[in-house]
Amino acid sequence: MAREKWASRLGFVLASVGSAVGLGNIWRFPFQTATNGGAAFLVVYLVAVVGIGIAALLAEFVVGRRANLNVIGAFEELGHPNWQIAGAIGLFGGFWVLSYYSVIGGWVIRYTLGSVFGGVVPWMGDPLANPVEFFGVASAGPDAVAFHAAFMVLTIGIVAFGVEGGIEKATKVMVPSIAVMLAGLAVFASTLPGAGAGYAYFLSPDLGALLGNLGNVIPAAVGQAMFSLSLGFGVMITYASYIGDDDNLGTDGLSIAFFNTLIGVLAGLVVFPLLFAQNVSPETAGPGAVFVSVPTALAELPAGSILGLVFFGVVLIAALSSAISLLEVVTSYLIDNYAISRPQAATGLGLVIFVLGIPSALDTAWLGWFDGIAVNVVLPLSLLLVVVYVGWVLAGDALDEVQRGTSGAALLGPLWLWTVRTVVLVAILGTLLLGIRKLLVNGGLIPPF
Ligand code: PFF
Repeated sequence: MAREKWASRLGFVLASVGSAVGLGNIWRFPFQTATNGGAAFLVVYLVAVVGIGIAALLAEFVVGRRANLNVIGAFEELGHPNWQIAGAIGLFGGFWVLSYYSVIGGWVIRYTLGSVFGGVVPWMGDPLANPVEFFGVASAGPDAVAFHAAFMVLTIGIVAFGVEGGIEKATKVMVPSIAVMLAGLAVFASTLPGAGAGYAYFLSPDLGALLGNLGNVIPAAVGQAMFSLSLGFGVMITYASYIGDDDNLGTDGLSIAFFNTLIGVLAGLVVFPLLFAQNVSPETAGPGAVFVSVPTALAELPAGSILGLVFFGVVLIAALSSAISLLEVVTSYLIDNYAISRPQAATGLGLVIFVLGIPSALDTAWLGWFDGIAVNVVLPLSLLLVVVYVGWVLAGDALDEVQRGTSGAALLGPLWLWTVRTVVLVAILGTLLLGIRKLLVNGGLIPPF
């Protein structure tokens, strides 16, 4: 059977934006900003996206489009079977990440339903009525397992319909909805008293504080940029393998990074004014920022439940459009290699991933452990291998691939290759080493039995 393709270039770009925009933008980005000094973090994050993220994104695109094959087979197809290990680590990482990403996706379903029905269906609970208690019940235990299952079912449902019929169709609706709903919330948030303090916190960097804390801020910002652009788990290699033409990868990469950043910033423009308006401190919020502080702030507002529905609805759509990309990496591998249908592959894999996620759904300590290993080790390790491969092994062919469909700007290709070989490689190696150190120092390498 012929390999699937995107129906249009816009479809590919929107699907990639859908993958990039997710819990990372709306849940992780605000609390990373808050725990790393506010606006100073935003500045370093933007530098990391432009200086490292876009070049690394193009490196993944080059492998995918040139090989037209899944994340493991691609390396063999390009003539370097030994490098399949890079793809295998990424594929394993995607599997691993989806197991707990789906658990958080389940919390979000619960929050979205709770915002609407919480007052009517007592069992459901209302997130705004008692945010701390609601978070406790929703985030761990049997309820969390059930909603994790529901989120996996939605994810499988979309992936089973295929690249064009499922992922492309869904993300064409999902991505614009996220943008419009978040923009609406940002406009509303701007009318709140205290919004100004939120903007100041988010947008005016304290350079003194930044310089004093660069050692922590830089790795956090580079890590956030990589996670947010969906790098390291084979997603962008897989998605680029369905491109059927010679369009300019550079402009696609730029658009994806631009929209991803825009949505992260928009999320900040919603979350920080909301928190400041209700005197909820962003620093103390931590990972619970979105799940506890936002409902706390919303509870004080007249139309809190409707706002809660829109806010968590956005988070849900964003999480789902990322989860499908993670499931697609493994699904694509199975259907490229074995005589198995797409629905069978997606369902079987979804089931295994569901089981792997059960510990994370029962105890957030497990979720933190899975996340720590994925983001600190697996992601930078797999991305490092891809970058070394593209920069130093594929080299001339990579340059040729990135320049297909471009006209003029002849210097940009070599500049990209040089950046991949040096700056990007060193930055990712540094992130990996610091990530391993962090896990060793915190004892995070040992599972939380
Ligand atoms: N980029 C997604 C987010 O920011 O939530 C998360 C993600 C999806 C990371 C897919 C990695 C990935 F391969």
